[in-house]
This record gives sequence, structure tokens and C-alpha cells, in this order.
Amino acid sequence: MKKIIFSLFVALSSVTTVQAADANAGKEKAAVCSACHGPTGVSASGMFPNLAGQNDAYIIKQLTDFKSGARNDAMMAPMAANLSDEDMADLAAHFSSLPNVNEQAAASSGPAESTGSTVAASPAGNVEIVSSTPAAAIYQGDVAAGKSKSAACAACHGADGNSLAPIYPVLAGQSANYLAKQLEDFKSGDRKDPVMAGMVAGLSPEDMHDLAAYFAVQTTKAGTGETNEAGHKLYIGGDSTREIAACIACHGVTGKGVKQAGFPGLTGQSQEYLTKQLVSFRDGTRNNDNNGIMRNIAIKLSDANIEAVTQYITSLK
Ligand code: HEC
Ligand code: HEC
Ligand code: HEC
Repeated sequence: MKKIIFSLFVALSSVTTVQAADANAGKEKAAVCSACHGPTGVSASGMFPNLAGQNDAYIIKQLTDFKSGARNDAMMAPMAANLSDEDMADLAAHFSSLPNVNEQAAASSGPAESTGSTVAASPAGNVEIVSSTPAAAIYQGDVAAGKSKSAACAACHGADGNSLAPIYPVLAGQSANYLAKQLEDFKSGDRKDPVMAGMVAGLSPEDMHDLAAYFAVQTTKAGTGETNEAGHKLYIGGDSTREIAACIACHGVTGKGVKQAGFPGLTGQSQEYLTKQLVSFRDGTRNNDNNGIMRNIAIKLSDANIEAVTQYITSLK
């Protein structure tokens, strides 16, 4: 009897938790998840599970286990690391409220528009507007205004964002969200670089979005480096014995990144710049990555790994 009362209590209290959760807050918090699990909880790749319509209690348990390490996955561990119990409940409420994959497929054979998520191309080019993600992830800049403001950047980054010297990163075709975040981070000091600190000091948030928009719609030049077998293996497969996540999950098959999520493209960057960033994430001198997403990976990379994977990235087209 005691046992029955106890389990009834557990059942009731978990119902209360679920009711307290806020699916709308969960929707906002899910912006980063959409890179892998899809904006509507249906994943675009067979590597990632669908979350739409999943039981909320099950989602909470999995997130708790990824956080504690009871369930081990190199990609989900950094995602869950900083989630509070409330975040998990909100995310679970959001994903469980979405129509499941079959319902979404049925709905899209009629007039589209399932959960309010739309991905539209802007007239300026290839910049996505994802209405299901929060403000920070929405592309806001004005390309023409960005072009005139970019005169100050050309000396180092090139007029079209294709830098000529290897110490200067390529900005052409980079995710607008990522570029705007870097400019904000240089200004706040979250990302430290003496040259860039001076460049951003006078920029307003609007300037940053305009500059980001301008560079995002330029065309990245293809990489011209030699490939590297060990680097290729690490890039596409990670290293499960050392819990290193595959770069491909966030930076994409051809190194173009995941624009909406602000996961940067790497294609066209020099080996020198890539190496400097990985070493800086590894020693913590670059620490502006949310949730330590890159530091958790870089800390496990040896010098030989960094040399191989950066060499491989320079061959991506
Ligand atoms: C970089 C890709 C990536 C991102 C971003 C990501 N996930 Fe995952 N997620 C995965 C992978 C891969 C798995 C499968 C892990 C495994 O097989 O052990 C997974 C599994 C899960 C599961 C377990 C599903 C099941 O049926 O077992 C949940 C729940 C989940 N993710 C929630 C989230 C949430 C919430 C976020 C955002 C805060 C998120 N994920 C962000 C890649 C990702
Ligand atoms: C004098 C040279 C110089 C000028 C001018 C300059 N930059 Fe930079 N920029 C750099 C250097 C060097 C870095 C790399 C810093 C590092 O190693 O972390 C950088 C990095 C960046 C990054 C980060 C790129 C990434 O992939 O993470 C962005 C964004 C950026 N610059 C935008 C701009 C904009 C916009 C302007 C004009 C307003 C500008 N820069 C002007 C030298 C310059
Ligand atoms: C779970 C997602 C994820 C995985 C997996 C991942 N990255 Fe990243 N990476 C990011 C994010 C997000 C950033 C940008 C952080 C920020 O906001 O500054 C980044 C930034 C970088 C940068 C700096 C880019 C620039 O322009 O300055 C390099 C280089 C990089 N990653 C290389 C790698 C390599 C190599 C691997 C595989 C060994 C890898 N990443 C795996 C998410 C990931």
C-alpha cells in the first residue's frame, strides 16, 4: 500500500512539473537544438533523432542523463551541460507539443505551415530568416548600408570579405548571426583581439547587423589546400574513444556551417587562422563559445590532430 501511495505521489508530482513548464519559453530555448533536431523537431539527417511529439517525461530524463553523464554522447553533453531543470522542462514541453513526423508529413502534403516555422530567402540572397528562432537568431541587417560601412574593413578582410593575408579570417559567405555575435563579443571583450577591439569600439548594434548582412551575402572562395586523411577522418567521424564530436555535425559536410544556428563556416579560412582559433579554444584564451561548445572539443585535440584537421579543412570547396 505504502508503495502504491508513493508511486501515485511521484506520478502526481511529475504531472505538476509538466504543467508548470512553458512551451513558449521552450521554443525560444530550442533555437540551438534546431541545428541538429530541425526547427520543427523533425531532424533533417538520419544521424539525429526526431524530438517532435516525443513524451515530455522521456525528454527530461534524457537531458538529465546527458548532463550527469549517465547517458554519454559527445554532441549532447555540451548541449545539456548548462540547462537548468526549468530549461529542460520548457524544452520538453515545447518538443512534446509539436506534431510528430508523420503528422508533419501529412500536413505538408496539403498547404504547408505546420508550427509557424518558416525559412525564407531574403531578396538579397542566401540569408535565411527562421521565424521560429528568437530575435538574436534572426537576420536583421541592411546589405547596402553594410557595404558602405565595410570600407574600414577592406584593408584586412578584403572588399568582398575574401581576405588576402592568412592571419585575417575570411568573412565572405559567413553566417550573419555568427558575424554579428563576434562583433558584439569583440566589443564587450568576451572575445579578445587588440586589432578588432579598436575596429568595433565605435560600432552600434545596427552597424554590426548591417556589416554582418553585407559579408554574409558575399561568395566565399573555395579552399585550395591539400586534403589530409587523418584530418578527414576526424572531421567526419570525430573520435568516440576520446569523446570528440565530429566537426561535420556543426560545421557541415562542405564546411559551410549551420547559418541559422550561428555555427560558423570554415571553408576558405587559412590553416594559420584555423590553427590559432583551435589552440585558443584549447587553452581558453578564446572563450566566447556558448556552453563551451568548442572548448569542450578543442581541449581533447592534440597538436597533431589540429594540424591534420586544419589541413583537411583548407581542402573543402
Ligand atoms: C550538434 C547536434 C545536436 C544539437 C545542437 C542538439 N542535439 Fe540532441 N541529440 C544529438 C544526437 C547526435 C543525439 C543522439 C545521441 C545518442 O545517440 O546517444 C541527440 C539526442 C537527443 C535526445 C534524446 C532523444 C532520444 O530519443 O533518445 C534529446 C532529448 C535531445 N537530443 C535534445 C536536445 C535538445 C533539447 C537540444 C538543444 C538544447 C539538442 N538536443 C541539441 C545531436 C544534437
Ligand atoms: C587591421 C586589420 C583589421 C581590420 C581593419 C579589421 N579587422 Fe576584423 N579581424 C582582424 C584580425 C587579425 C582578426 C582575427 C582575430 C583573431 O585572431 O582572433 C579579425 C577577426 C574578425 C572577425 C571574426 C571572424 C571569425 O571568423 O571569427 C570579424 C567578424 C571581423 N574581424 C570583422 C571586421 C569588420 C566588420 C571590420 C570593419 C569594421 C574589421 N573586421 C576590420 C583584423 C582586422
Ligand atoms: C557541437 C557543435 C560543434 C562541433 C561538433 C564543432 N564545432 Fe567548431 N564551432 C562551433 C561553434 C558554435 C563555434 C563558434 C563559437 C563562437 O560563438 O565564437 C565554432 C567555432 C569553430 C572555429 C572558429 C571559427 C572562426 O571563424 O573563428 C573553428 C576553427 C572550429 N570551430 C573548428 C572545429 C573543428 C576542427 C571541429 C571538430 C574537431 C569542430 N569545430 C567541432 C560548434 C561546433
